[in-house]
Formats: sequence, C-alpha cells, structure tokens
Amino acid sequence: MASFGRASVRSKEREAAEFSLESWTVKDAKAMYLVDRWGGGYFEVNENGDMTVLPLMGRGGKIVIREVVEAARAKGLACPLLIRFQDMLHHRVRALNEAFNAAISRKRFKGVYRGVFPIKVNQLREVVEEIVNAGRPFHYGLEVGSKPELFAALSLHTDNDSLIICNGYKDDRYIRAALLGRRLGKTVMLVAEKLSEVEKIVSIAKEVGIEPMIGVRLRLSSKGAGKWSESSGSAAKFGLSTEELLQVTAILREAGMESALRLLHFHIGSQVPDILIIKRAIREATRYYAKLRKMGHPIEYLDVGGGLAIDYDGSRTTSHSSMNYSIREYARDIVYNVADVCDEENVPHPNLVSESGRAVVAHHSVLVVEALNTVEKPGKAPANIAMEEHKLLRELREIGEMVEQRELAESWHDLVQIREESQKMFELGLLDLQLKARTEGLFWEVAERIMRLASQLNVNDLPEEMIELRRELADQYICNFSVFQSLLDHWALQAMFPVVPIHRLDERPTARARLADITCDSDGKISKYIHQDDEDDTLPLHPVNSRPYYLGVFLTGAYQDIMGDLHNLFGRVNEVHVFLDPDEPCGYYLEVVIPGSSISEVLGMVQYDTREMVARVKAQVDAAIKQDRIKPSDGMKLLEDYEKGLRDQTYLYND
Ligand SMILES: Cc1ncc(COP(=O)(O)O)c(C=O)c1O
Repeated sequence: MASFGRASVRSKEREAAEFSLESWTVKDAKAMYLVDRWGGGYFEVNENGDMTVLPLMGRGGKIVIREVVEAARAKGLACPLLIRFQDMLHHRVRALNEAFNAAISRKRFKGVYRGVFPIKVNQLREVVEEIVNAGRPFHYGLEVGSKPELFAALSLHTDNDSLIICNGYKDDRYIRAALLGRRLGKTVMLVAEKLSEVEKIVSIAKEVGIEPMIGVRLRLSSKGAGKWSESSGSAAKFGLSTEELLQVTAILREAGMESALRLLHFHIGSQVPDILIIKRAIREATRYYAKLRKMGHPIEYLDVGGGLAIDYDGSRTTSHSSMNYSIREYARDIVYNVADVCDEENVPHPNLVSESGRAVVAHHSVLVVEALNTVEKPGKAPANIAMEEHKLLRELREIGEMVEQRELAESWHDLVQIREESQKMFELGLLDLQLKARTEGLFWEVAERIMRLASQLNVNDLPEEMIELRRELADQYICNFSVFQSLLDHWALQAMFPVVPIHRLDERPTARARLADITCDSDGKISKYIHQDDEDDTLPLHPVNSRPYYLGVFLTGAYQDIMGDLHNLFGRVNEVHVFLDPDEPCGYYLEVVIPGSSISEVLGMVQYDTREMVARVKAQVDAAIKQDRIKPSDGMKLLEDYEKGLRDQTYLYND
C-alpha cells in the first residue's frame, strides 16, 4: 500500500471532511468552510445546502442568499452583486453600545459611552443613515476625517446629544465648517492632529465668535499590531508628543480658552488582533487624561479610536486577520482600565468614545461572484496521438503503473525529475511539440493519480509535497469581478475574506481551485483562503456545470466599497439592499437596487465624452460607407450597437 514517510501539521478536521470517502452532509460543509468560526452567528448553512443570513441573529428571520441573487437577477441585476443586509447594521450598532453600557453599569463607571461611526469605513449614504437611525437611542455619533466627510456628517447628524468627531488634517475651511456645526448646537469636536491646528482653531473661533470644542490626538508610545500598526507609535504620521501637548495647554491658556480642551483621542490602528495591546494603550492614554485633568483642563471625553477587530479567518487568534477577544471583552477592558487609572489618580471618570467602524459594518455586505468557467490545467493534451514510444513516455508510464506499490513521495519525486528532463530536452531542440504535449499530459495524469491516492491516506501522513502538488493541480475558476474594484485590501495588504459557495453545500466539493478575476492582470486573483490552521492557497469547490455557480465573498462591508479602483475600467458592481419584513411571503424585501457603473460612466471618469465618442465613430462609419466598404444599413446598425454598448455595464454579461 502506498504511504508517506512523515507527518504533516495540516488540520485534521477540515482535511478529514475533504478527504473522507463517507457520505457528505451540510455539517461537513460548515466545518470545511469554517462558517461557525467567522460567521459570528450571522451566517449558516441550511439543510438544502444554501448559505443563509440571520441579520438579527436569533431575533429575526433567515434569508437564503441564493434567493436574493435570483431576485436581483429577475430585476436585471446580474453578478457581481453586492448584497447589503441592512438590519445587520442595526444589530451591530446595538451590540456595540450595549456592550459598553453593560460594562459601565457593571463597573459602576461614572461616565457614559458616546461611540461614533467613522464614515470613512463605509461612506454610502444608505449605510450611514441606517447606522445613525440605529444609534439614535444610544446617542451614537459620527467621526469624519476630511471635509467631504464633514459635510456629509453635518447633513445626516440630527441628535445634538451625539458627537461629531473631526479627525484628519484641517485647513481653515474645514475648521469653519465644523464651527458652523457648533452654531447649530451640535457637539462637534475638532481634534488637532498637529500643533499648528490648535493655533488655527483658536484664531478662527475668535474671529467668528464661537467657542470651539477641541480634542487632541495623542501620539502614544504603545504601538498597534497587524497590518495597520503604523498608525501608532512614536513614528506615527498623526498625533502630538507630550511636549506638544504641553504647548497646546499653553496656547489655550494664553487665549483664555482652557475650557475648550474637551477630548483626548488616540488611534493605534485598525484591526488590532490582540487585546493586550489595546489594554496597554488605554492605560497609557488614561494617564495623559488624568494628568491634564489635574492641570485644570475640564476634559470630558476619552476617545479610544478604532481598532476593534473582525475575526475574518475564524481562528480567534492574534493573526492579522483575526482577534483574540470579543466585543464584550473589549468594552469591559476599556471601562475597567480607564476606571482603574482614574481611581488611582483620583480624577473623575471621563465619558468614553470609540470609533469602531470595521466592527460595525464588516458583516453586513456579501459580494456574490459567478464562476464563469475554469482554466484547464496543462496536460489535457490529445492522448490519441500515435507516436513511437519515447523513453520519457515509457518512464512516465512506468511511474504511473507503480504508484500503488511505492511510497507516493518517491513516485512524485521521480515524476518531477522526468518533467525537468523533458523541459531540458525541449530547450535543446530534442522534443517536438507533439511529444512535449504528450509528456505534459502523462505527467499530469500520473500527478492526479498520486493526489487521488494521497487523499485516501490519514491526513497526518500528508507531506509538504502534497500541498505543493495540490496547488499545481488546482483549477483556476474565472470569476466575473475585479479584485481591484471589490477586494482591494486583499490585493494590497493580503487581507483575508472568507469565500464560500452560496449553494450546493449539500454536495461534496471535489475540485481544488484558485479564483481569478476578469482583469487583464495576473495579480487579479484571490490568492489566499482562510483555513483552520493557517492560510491556504487553494479552496475546495464544486465542478462548474451548465448552471450558474455562485461564490460569496463575506465580511466585505468595511473599506472595500470605497477603496476599489477602476483597473481595466471595471466599475462599481450591482447592489441590492435587503430588509427583513415578516409581512413579506419570503420574510424580506429588496428596498434599494443600485445598478453598477455603465461603460459610459467609467469612461466619463477618465475624461471621455460619450457624445463625442459616438460622433467620432459615426464619422468613421460614414467614411466606410462612402468608400463602399460597408452598406449604409450595416453602418447604421453598427453605430446603434456602439451607442447601446456604451450603456451596458462593465462586467461580463451572458444574455
Ligand atoms: C482615526 C481613526 N478612527 C477610526 C478608524 C476606524 O478604525 P477601525 O477600522 O478599527 O474600525 C480609523 C481607521 O483606521 C482611524 O484612522
């Protein structure tokens, strides 16, 4: 019996599901795709093998994602499709606020929680409005980092007991717009990112006669961790040093505005995976708060910034795509540590602010892409070519015949050696194309045989080579989307997102695949997939058949929407917003349907004028007609098709 000599570290649970020859159930699918681990109670697999969403967890209905895709299709919106489950935003806002309120009452903390949603994490009006509505009972506010975001916030914000926190670098106009908010009675905090901003705020406030509310961003020495850790530490782009903080107090004292200093802020980076790092930063920042209070500044708010993470890979660890704590633990640790330092220093407890955006919006949107077809592996070469048996072919065949009798690793090593030999011979001109095609074909046939046998072995006996071989044997599924438009953080930062077929989960996935997008760029692919132990570079999938095969990319609600770019001029994707409604027969309805960008829209963004383009093509058609190269009727049809094509969407569309 074929066997391997050494053990592997790969996860038993998932590999067992994958390789087991026993019958397949949706439970196996859940284990394989780690749905319970990253899904956080919002995602499940039903008995028909469909992915479902519970936007309110146990408190509301369940939605079959495939049915939403079909309903959108019926309205003319094909994949790629971004589905927003708006009720989930309510659930997340409530969960965050309730976690802080529970921690506050448990600790008998004297301050209140006044969280804010950082608009930059998802600026879409419908998303921000939903969050503002959900946050009203908690006086949940908004955070902005630029003038456009401030203008958006001033229009959407109506609860004067909630905050608008103004971060980011500021010019005079930014400051004036924020002071306009103060005049309207809003609690607008201008957070100084650098010393000169304080001087500017003081002078403009005096000029317009409005008492400003000033915050200061601290440059803590506590540093974050993970992909966004550069936001903190002594070399950070933002924030004031201790010396500069003292200068702020002097400037305010001189201006007679000591009471304007209302808030201390810090931000150690997004997606902080380790709670210990957060605790350390909180304690350091609270010391600053306490010392400033003792100097006589009536600071009311301590703003702990963002950082609350999402468990994208479901590992519950300190890996960059995960977190080793829950929202409740996060809130308790902040409340506890702030109270502890304040009590030690004998200063009043501040009101607490957090700027958690990722944790509020990441879950609510799912990108659904359709696998269009697969790129065949090399080697499906014509097997019926008659040719004299070449030494290479004979050796390959012998390896294949002996696979069952030898250790698999040995067969694999021999196989690789023959492949190298055949490549050398080709380079020396000793192999013609037919023979090369045949050796490649046989190589892959034998490789697949080795892989099939390996899959029957105990998973602990799988060596590294099999992982490498599996990668080489993986199919490429071409999916109708652009990584650069819809998953920029994966391309730029290797951020992980769970990818799962949204249907057919009652069927064993028998293929190993990598997903490639339709851009003309070899980087346009999903190159890493979540896995129980570590990342994986292939994903188990079902063979593509004549029916549409849909894959969901989950937890995409934070940052991806707005950061996407127009590489290859693939524009925004179709979008639907889903609301639960028990009165509807299916338990939900699609409220907003936003068609993706048209070709003329994306061309407009790079300075093309559609009318001028049509005129130019018309001139060419006219010339061709004049020269008798095309008939007038064909020319008119051509022009009509060109104009109609400009109104089409940018992604592939199968009529
Ligand atoms: C100042 C500030 N606040 C809040 C956030 C949002 O943080 P998170 O992504 O952890 O929700 C960011 C993002 O980096 C930020 O720069």
